[in-house]
This record gives sequence, C-alpha cells and structure tokens, in this order.
Amino acid sequence: MGNKLVAYFSASGVTGNVAKTLAEAAGADLYEIKPEVPYTKVDLNWQDKKARSTIEMNDKSYRPAIADKDADIKKYDVVFVGFPVWWYVAPTIINTFLESYDFSGKTIVLFATSGGSGFGKTEENLKNSVSTSTVIKEGKVFSGKQTKADLAAWVNSLGI
Ligand SMILES: Cc1cc2nc3c(=O)[nH]c(=O)nc-3n(C[C@H](O)[C@H](O)[C@H](O)COP(=O)(O)O)c2cc1C
Repeated sequence: MGNKLVAYFSASGVTGNVAKTLAEAAGADLYEIKPEVPYTKVDLNWQDKKARSTIEMNDKSYRPAIADKDADIKKYDVVFVGFPVWWYVAPTIINTFLESYDFSGKTIVLFATSGGSGFGKTEENLKNSVSTSTVIKEGKVFSGKQTKADLAAWVNSLGI
C-alpha cells in the first residue's frame, strides 16, 4: 500500500464531507481543488441556461482556472479524485486539475456525489487529461450519507 491522497472539488459541501471522511477511512492526505473564482449559488443554478455552470458544462473543452497548484502529487501512488456530478459527468475543473500535474504511473480512483446520476461518460472525458500510463478506476457515486466504516469497507474492496 502506497501513499494516498484524496483530492476533491465541492461546490456546496456534500462531496467535501465525503472526501474528509474518506481521507480518515483510507489514512490518506486531503487536498481541496478550489476554483480561482468560487461558484456562487447563482452560478450553480442548473435550471438557468445562462448560469456559469451551464455555460461552462456546454463546452467540454473549457477549463475553469484553479486557485493553486499546491498538491504534492509526486508523493502519492493512489489519488482519489472526488467531485459532484454535473450534467451527468465530472465538472471540467477536474480536467483542469488533472492537466495541471503529472499523474504518470499513478492510479486515480474516481468518486462522486450526485442527486442520483452515475458517472455517465466521466471516465471517457477525463482519460485524455492524463497520460496513457495513468490508471483511472471508476470508483463509486455516493449519496453523501456514508459513514467512515462504509468508506473504509469500500477502500478495502478496491484492493489498493
Ligand atoms: C450545475 C449542476 C449540475 C448538476 N447535475 C446533476 C446531474 O446531472 N445528475 C445528478 O444526479 N445531480 C446533479 N447535480 C446535483 C449534484 O451532483 C449534487 O447536489 C452533489 O451532491 C453536490 O455536491 P457538492 O455539494 O460537493 O457540490 C448537479 C448540481 C449542479 C450544481
């Protein structure tokens, strides 16, 4: 078992709570992927065609800027990457994060929270943001109500 990091983006806190508990359960370090410009409530209104999140997610090549590049990725063998499902996939800030570091030879385990959707085409959308020697595992979409024991059992089941 190598060093593990839990890196997460969370716009309204649900994924952040899962990430914190997961880091405890997995004995992993924790890193928050922060947007350079935080998303406001208005930005997150998916019912508004003109909301920032709607406009951004309509263009999968758009890369929202991240606030820092301080994650010490070199130190880790396994990186859990967490996010809320937006429009059936990962928010494109996750592409920004993956493209900001070298994940060669590392294993990335995806986790997410959502209102019910699964990962959809997330893996396909993220694959091109890492090198071919990076393993991306589609982990699990959580409701947000998992206990530390639930998450520990999940980590064990991954065999990493
Ligand atoms: C812009 C936007 C798009 C969303 N799209 C979906 C979706 O396609 N499917 C779904 O089940 N939930 C969707 N949700 C709900 C979030 O995935 C869910 O509330 C998540 O737990 C929020 O996590 P957070 O608090 O870490 O940001 C969306 C939320 C937002 C703000």
